[in-house]
Amino acid sequence: MNRLTLALILLSSLTLGCTSSDECVELGSTCAALEERVDQLLSEMTLEEKVAQMSGTTYISGLYGTEPWNVPGVERLGIPPFEMSDGPRGVGVHDGSTAFPVAIARGASWDPELERRVGEAQGRELRAIGGNVLLAPTINNLRHPSWGRSQETYGEDVHLLSRFAVASVQGLQQYVLANPKHFAANSIERTRFRVDVSLDERTLREIYLPQFRAAVHEGGAASIMSAYNSVNGQFCGENEVLLREILKGDWAFDGFVLSDFTLGTHPNSAVNGLDLEMPTANVFRSLLEQVRSGEVPEEVVDDAVRRMVRKKLQYRLNEPSPVDEGVIASDEHLALAREAAVDGSVLLKNESSTLPLDRSTLTRIAVVGELADAINIGDNGSSNVRPAFVVTPLEGIQAAVGDGVTLDFIGSDGLDSDGLATVEAADAVIVVTGLTFEDEGEGLIGAGDRIDLGLSPERVALIQAVAGANTRTIVVLEGGGAITMGDWVPDIEALLMVWYPGQMGGHAIADLLFGIANPSGKLPITFPVSLDQLPEFDNESLAVTYDYFHGYRYLDRNGTNPEFAFGFGLSYTTFSISNLEASQAQASAGDVVRFSVDVHNTGSAAGAEVIQLYVSYPGSAVERAERELKGFAKVVLEPGETQTVEIGVPVNDLAYYDTSEGGWALEGLAYEMHIGTSSRDLPLSTTLTVQGQRSVSVY
Ligand code: BGC
Repeated sequence: MNRLTLALILLSSLTLGCTSSDECVELGSTCAALEERVDQLLSEMTLEEKVAQMSGTTYISGLYGTEPWNVPGVERLGIPPFEMSDGPRGVGVHDGSTAFPVAIARGASWDPELERRVGEAQGRELRAIGGNVLLAPTINNLRHPSWGRSQETYGEDVHLLSRFAVASVQGLQQYVLANPKHFAANSIERTRFRVDVSLDERTLREIYLPQFRAAVHEGGAASIMSAYNSVNGQFCGENEVLLREILKGDWAFDGFVLSDFTLGTHPNSAVNGLDLEMPTANVFRSLLEQVRSGEVPEEVVDDAVRRMVRKKLQYRLNEPSPVDEGVIASDEHLALAREAAVDGSVLLKNESSTLPLDRSTLTRIAVVGELADAINIGDNGSSNVRPAFVVTPLEGIQAAVGDGVTLDFIGSDGLDSDGLATVEAADAVIVVTGLTFEDEGEGLIGAGDRIDLGLSPERVALIQAVAGANTRTIVVLEGGGAITMGDWVPDIEALLMVWYPGQMGGHAIADLLFGIANPSGKLPITFPVSLDQLPEFDNESLAVTYDYFHGYRYLDRNGTNPEFAFGFGLSYTTFSISNLEASQAQASAGDVVRFSVDVHNTGSAAGAEVIQLYVSYPGSAVERAERELKGFAKVVLEPGETQTVEIGVPVNDLAYYDTSEGGWALEGLAYEMHIGTSSRDLPLSTTLTVQGQRSVSVY
């Protein structure tokens, strides 16, 4: 940056924001003075300057470089550019940024406060390198675990997704603008540029959109990325219903919408509500001419530019970064990545208390598998991050194992006779296995969608061989989604799902295996026994229908038992829950009812439990889920400790979308509230009566 630019930016920072007005002091907030300033700036821009702000300036080759992706501002008016980067697991454009565990792992923590801190760290790292928009979080509902990008989102449940969307956006926006994506119903890779997803309006409004609404209304998201696919016959990047009617209309979103990259912009995009074409002008190359000829009204351009300038001012993007590059992969951020990997790992099986391993009584441990010493932190798609180092599971175990224990390592997926002898001689065997970028990922170039949900035959054979040779077999499983495992899980003693645990994953795994930390993650998705327990996943057809039911709602309705249920996860300690109480037994629209339970740690280790609240709707006028998540809270307890945990449920969250009225209908019903520790373990129940007739409102 030359001196003149710097001087202009500093000068403008005195006048761009409106910190003199009390209402406008808070980052991200607006006020009359700020809106006036936006209008004034707009009036000072030429049409060319306005249109130029509606496209990025990065060609495809630049997407793989180390510079953020630029969208011009107007230098002479002191309006800063956008400088963007992917994405959900860290700052993608910069070598050496922190690689956090993938989003599905963070969703498995069921701890939105942790996600807020991760968002803050990601935002801090991006701001430090001069970036100001992070293309995250991905908040598409995981309709089917075959989706190649399963790892990028937080799970299959719209309530869980909403809480994580809000947390991530709030964290990120302490430093940069967030960009929840991909709006909407984007969850197939192979046909992603062309597939039309049909949804009836209830399904769209109740299952696929609420997390975006939460990101906007509660999170204050400054921007949204539209999806490649089309919804109900119109590409999302030019979908009038999604962009103009719902997002900017019903939800009164005052931020801006940018396209998914390269193939996400279409002939009617600008008119139908897309404000910014990324990464460079392609469709919008003709926009200037279209405005000059009257084909596109200038108000469309004014509205788009107003939205972008408003966010630049609100978030003071013209001010110098408050942090420097020292924050990148700082000790604090690496510790946070390790904490997130620990908290998102899910203990799925632990026969005879095989775990944690006691280092004082073991003499020989074997670590087995090709992935044990491999760097395996996620796919090679847009969410890729290039950290300076990665602690592999083997390195983590080596660092933690202690002097008195011999560690044998077999780094292949096959066992020869020596390998078999080593496995037989061990006190315990840790098999590190799972999936990699070769099995699943974004797009067509990478592995894409995963049609078979099982492990490769070699990996299954390895687990079976180890389990046949040593009764104390522990599997550490990596991957970005549900894995079917009926052919090997009965044979093993313990199973720890660690997803793609990020650059500090090896240490986190060792912390958990040796009981330095206690697992507290819960599945944010269902692990089915087999594919036929799930709705169809069709990634060949160009027209698919998304029904109301998927995930645990689908299995509950069909009365099928999964391998591991949504919300399930074990601990090294045990908990009991009792004394369910409600702040009120009867309620009306607008109330927030608080449900409390006493949670008691009945075991001998400190640990955390996630209390989950699900609602049933007996007597509803429309078909509802058997039960669905409406609240949760994570509590940390010392051995013997009891705490009262409270979960607030806004009564409006019990409404369904009434398509005939075009609004949310709250029925007068006796709702059943079930509380427990997984979607299939809900020992406590109470009834909440919402009185009166149904009431309808638009939001
Ligand atoms: C992905 C987006 C990503 C963008 C930029 C697209 O292909 O769908 O999620 O932000 O590329 O890398």
